[in-house]
Amino acid sequence: MVRQKKYWKVGKRLPPLEFKPQKPDWLEAEPGWISEALESVRSRPSGGWLVVAPSSAIGDKPQRYVIAGREVVVWRAGNGLNAAPDRCPHMGACLSEGPIREGKLVCPWHGLELSPRGHGDWQTFPTFDDGLLLWIRFGHDTTSEKPFLSTRPDSYLEAVVSTVASCQPQDVIANRLDPWHGVHFHPHSFATLHVLEKSQERLRLRVAYRLLGPLTMEVEATFHCPEPNTITMTIVDGEGVGSVVETHATPIDAERTSIVELTLATSERWQFQFARRMKWLTRPLMERAARRLWVEDVAYAERRFALRSGIEDERNSLRVLGNDYLDVSAE
Ligand code: FES
Ligand SMILES: [Fe+2]
Repeated sequence: MVRQKKYWKVGKRLPPLEFKPQKPDWLEAEPGWISEALESVRSRPSGGWLVVAPSSAIGDKPQRYVIAGREVVVWRAGNGLNAAPDRCPHMGACLSEGPIREGKLVCPWHGLELSPRGHGDWQTFPTFDDGLLLWIRFGHDTTSEKPFLSTRPDSYLEAVVSTVASCQPQDVIANRLDPWHGVHFHPHSFATLHVLEKSQERLRLRVAYRLLGPLTMEVEATFHCPEPNTITMTIVDGEGVGSVVETHATPIDAERTSIVELTLATSERWQFQFARRMKWLTRPLMERAARRLWVEDVAYAERRFALRSGIEDERNSLRVLGNDYLDVSAE
């Protein structure tokens, strides 16, 4: 007989869940439902907007990013953040390797100065700074002047973590559309997890986060996708109502994705104002908790991509090696 672990709940108590016989998580996590939910998310409009990086990552020097296969230079000028092709219109030098002079990029090869007003075919891309993240718009889809943003709390303590995964954005979103893996794949972070509602518009779940040893904190949270490359978790009951975690997946190329995750913690408790003042201490803790989950979630997304790509198909790999390695009796 398996001994149930004892956990102690701290923080706001939620009413007991109505007893509902639940199938084991592996049966609740229906691959068909997750695929349909993902397809629904992927069919939503994005307006062509993609997250580049936290706005605070762009300082006095130009920065280079590769987004959807394009080399982009991002820099600050008097009018805010600008983005343009990281290729000098003269002979192709990387503009991100040059300095900025009076808001203009200075080409490191022959000194051409490029302002946000552009130069011939070399023109800036539309950008949007939402106050925390910088977005860029590619393509001719001008249906939305700004990105589709999630509702954020008015007062918050923010933390951002970024990583790169060998997969496509849909693999990152699919990972978040499968909350049933939480307790099994992240036993260090979740004690219990019940999915209360699932529709293509949102998932609602009750989860007990592990704080320290047997201490847990129970909250209810929803997941929804305001656009195809973003999935947002919002705490709707328990401690920290209104806190959000925005996960943004931006394609670097066909096989790599940049993940930028923004956590905005909020609370009505007086201790929260104290925590905000102590952000030099609380922010690293928030970042550590987010990074810990991404260790496994990147592995999940990469595994999903590998399966979709067929490169993990054992039989395919053996065929590449030759007939000696194939069990012909199983053919
Ligand atoms: S390559 Fe930039 S000025 Fe010549
Ligand atoms: Fe996860």
